[in-house]
Amino acid sequence: LNYDVSRERRYILQVLFNGLRRLEYRGYDSAGISIDSSAVSVHSPSHSPLVFRQEGNIESLVKSVYEEVSATDLNLEESFSVHAGIAHTRWATHGEPAPRNSHPQSSGAGNDFLVVHNGVITNYEVLKQSLLRHGYTFESETDTEVIPKLAKFVFDKANEGGDQTVTFSEVVLEVMRHLEGAYALIFKSRHYPNELIACKRGSPLLLGVKEFAQEHNNGTSYNDMKFISKNGHPKELFLSSDPHALVEHTKKVLVIEDGEVVDIKDGGVTIMKFDHGKGKDEKSLSRPASVQRALSILEMEVEQINKGKYEHYMQKEIHEQPESLTTSMRGRLIRGGSSKKKSVLLGGLKDHLKTIRRSRRIVFIGCGTSYNAALAARPILEELSDIPVMMEIASDLLDRQAPVYRDDTIIFVSQSGETADTLNALEYARENGALCVGITNTVGSAIARNTHCGVHINAGSEIGVASTKAYTSQIVVLAMVALAIGADTVSTKQRREGIIESLLNLPGKIREVLKLDEQMKDLARSLISEQSLVMFGRGYNYATALEGALKVKEVALMHSEGILAGEMKHGLLALVDENLPIVVITTRDQCFSKQQSVIQQLKAKRSTDSYVYRRRCSNLPLQLLAYHLTVLRGYNVDQPRNLAKSVTTE
Ligand code: G6P
Repeated sequence: LNYDVSRERRYILQVLFNGLRRLEYRGYDSAGISIDSSAVSVHSPSHSPLVFRQEGNIESLVKSVYEEVSATDLNLEESFSVHAGIAHTRWATHGEPAPRNSHPQSSGAGNDFLVVHNGVITNYEVLKQSLLRHGYTFESETDTEVIPKLAKFVFDKANEGGDQTVTFSEVVLEVMRHLEGAYALIFKSRHYPNELIACKRGSPLLLGVKEFAQEHNNGTSYNDMKFISKNGHPKELFLSSDPHALVEHTKKVLVIEDGEVVDIKDGGVTIMKFDHGKGKDEKSLSRPASVQRALSILEMEVEQINKGKYEHYMQKEIHEQPESLTTSMRGRLIRGGSSKKKSVLLGGLKDHLKTIRRSRRIVFIGCGTSYNAALAARPILEELSDIPVMMEIASDLLDRQAPVYRDDTIIFVSQSGETADTLNALEYARENGALCVGITNTVGSAIARNTHCGVHINAGSEIGVASTKAYTSQIVVLAMVALAIGADTVSTKQRREGIIESLLNLPGKIREVLKLDEQMKDLARSLISEQSLVMFGRGYNYATALEGALKVKEVALMHSEGILAGEMKHGLLALVDENLPIVVITTRDQCFSKQQSVIQQLKAKRSTDSYVYRRRCSNLPLQLLAYHLTVLRGYNVDQPRNLAKSVTTE
């Protein structure tokens, strides 16, 4: 960097910007940052923290910060013993993308309190009205803005007498008492320099610890430590809602739990538990117990979250499916030998299999691609378990308040494990007494933690907003779940062994299918200017059609519909003419001849040929098609318009 920014400042800015870049896949309409100031300037009257907010992607924030800091106060050679900064990349829920709606949100002039927020505050209107009555004015349309304003209100009230005796964490604890909804928050304040307070309820939050001081601790438990090593160097502490921002600094993390408050001060950290429970008196609220927590190790490598030789994350993730599927199956499928039989072992399910087998029905719940993966696995689960399997889109189940019974097994499928609709459906199912099983890609996610049992799909980090490798791993894991639930009897032996063998051979088959990359690119080229693309599937490939069409919609921004081929004659056929491009998905299964007749019917209605593609492995070519179509049409593959990877609001 050529900017004349003091070394420490440059470092902290780089750390924060890199963190934002890692999180950009979760939200990319605006971003903001705040760091300590050492001088009085336009940006930092009376030593208040510096704040920069910008619409657009991270790079536009980076540019604007460096343009301003090189010209103003950051080139002062003053250094702090401790630096504390916060940053945020936003995906708008309340209020359009604009600097005033970006985070950090502020308590007002002087930045007495600043807050970055992941989640949604559901009672913000009530809080806003009450703050307005106390003379506060609001500049944004966000739900978040009430939080720093409330913090200032609490602080000012506590200090009415004169002396500042209230601590930063006491202010935050009082604020938390009034907040409803889901949040992970980090607070920064002019009144408490070099200190950050974080807290959470519902939304994820991780604390990363770099150069963990072994000499102070046996490495398993952690509390009230100062991160100063023997040679006196300060340690680094990181807070993030997502491990991707931490892994390049440290793999040692604490998964912060609901109601916990993290106080980072002078290089040390204290964690307190805030009990929202009813009947707590004021005293116990203001004096929460300090908690002992265990550190965990992130199972993530920095290389995993880089693009490597690929141009886009989606491309990389499509091409790494032979490996991701191998990892999903590792240690779980036993090929058998001369004496051993082929079998499946899912540690996270084994204690609950008896209950699952006795269920009245099995219900799959998910959203988007995860729903499609469950739909793809449904036939095999029905076949092997002999239990009725229902499909539910999470939001629809909640809208209908559909009946859920104590003897239901409900399988929640979610890549992120944080999707708000799926989480709400989980809460609803638990309230109704069902056995809840989680299938997620994210260890420690809310769905993984709040289900009774489950299986991680182990597909590795998925960063492209459009899910690809997680989809295939979800299907494979659900097929293993079906094998685990199904009875292992003499009559089913052959079929089960056939499935296990096919699963084990799948990575090799995928490698073959990936060779069709160029062919799919050619197909994409021929479709580049189309308005619409229809995909027909049935049986196992109904889900393939839905998922193929979802990919084309999501990233290539082309209207696309996946249609159950059996329903074609009940509507879609009316749209078929020589102009409508159609993909018919057909594999050599029990639906093969029916799909041949669909092709004949379509041909009869068209003067030109439809695009017909036959191959055993059906979803992957469509991922490649959507990828190439997007690039050729000039759209952003990894960050499609208006969509986010993790939808943590309803
Ligand atoms: C968003 C993403 C989709 C994803 C869906 C469900 O819409 O853009 O790619 O399929 O959420 O997410 P989940 O993390 O629950 O699988």
